[in-house]
Amino acid sequence: ERSSNIQTRPPVVTIMGHVDHGKTSLLDKIRETKVANGEAGGITQHIGAYHVKTDRGVITFLDTPGHAAFSAMRSRGAQATDIVVLVVAADDGMMPQTAEAIDHARAAGTPIIVAINKMDKPGADPDRVLNELTTKEVVSEEWGGDTPMARISAKTGEGIEDLLEFISLQAELMELEAPLDGAAQGVVIESRLEKGRGPVVSVLVKKGTLKQGDLVLAGEHYGKVRALTDEHGQRIKSAGPSIPVEILGLPETPAAGSEFLVVTDEKKAREVADFRTNR
Ligand code: GTP
Ligand code: NA
Ligand code: MG
Repeated sequence: ERSSNIQTRPPVVTIMGHVDHGKTSLLDKIRETKVANGEAGGITQHIGAYHVKTDRGVITFLDTPGHAAFSAMRSRGAQATDIVVLVVAADDGMMPQTAEAIDHARAAGTPIIVAINKMDKPGADPDRVLNELTTKEVVSEEWGGDTPMARISAKTGEGIEDLLEFISLQAELMELEAPLDGAAQGVVIESRLEKGRGPVVSVLVKKGTLKQGDLVLAGEHYGKVRALTDEHGQRIKSAGPSIPVEILGLPETPAAGSEFLVVTDEKKAREVADFRTNR
């Protein structure tokens, strides 16, 4: 019974790196390329997460630029993240947040794939980047280490297919699985109050399937899911493992990094929510 419910799930990939090294540009380019190819893709400024379909399957990305959500997740052992893509600008090299990101990924036991970005720039020096990373014991496969590194340009799109392939290969090695059926569980990526919509809560489903009408307990709050939307803002009925969605129906905005789960007993949900509020 267990095996029939357990399914391969898409990898959740968090993009990290020093400020302005091109994390958001990379995600924008991936989306654009995929849309141009007629493949599924999309992003929303709000959710900070999206998924694309590649030849090798779906990949879910989280952008982290000083993302409050991400520090919370990171401090909990990067629980929502399977793979870190470390973006390093080829014209700038390893910088403090690059080193920090390596430490966080290590602490969480999350494999790193390096994207050496801005290869289109005249000052690009990828060998210097490889050298500098070696000082943090991040050694390229090309140099006998175990870290895949793609030379890319988020501007021209160069190397992005290689990067996507490295991600898919890593994901295959990890044999990522999750139960598809049953009460959903996951993590809050971010939440905000929107005029006319009320609290909008972006979540990443980790297990099970989240459905419209479900009773959700998220951090200190609970409520019935009135509507689910995907990253394109389209109404959807349900979302399975590794899929980012927005929930409408919670009475307030739970903190980024909070865990959420679907509960059946409203009384219990209220008790837990009250307990957490008064803690
Ligand atoms: P934070 O979220 O602020 O940490 O920055 P980021 O890492 O998301 O960088 P962002 O994508 O905002 O890019 C920073 C600047 O670098 C922008 O002006 C981009 O246009 C530029 N940029 C990003 N990637 C490339 C690239 O591959 N080539 C060139 N020439 N410029 C790039
Ligand atoms: Na920036
Ligand atoms: Mg950014």
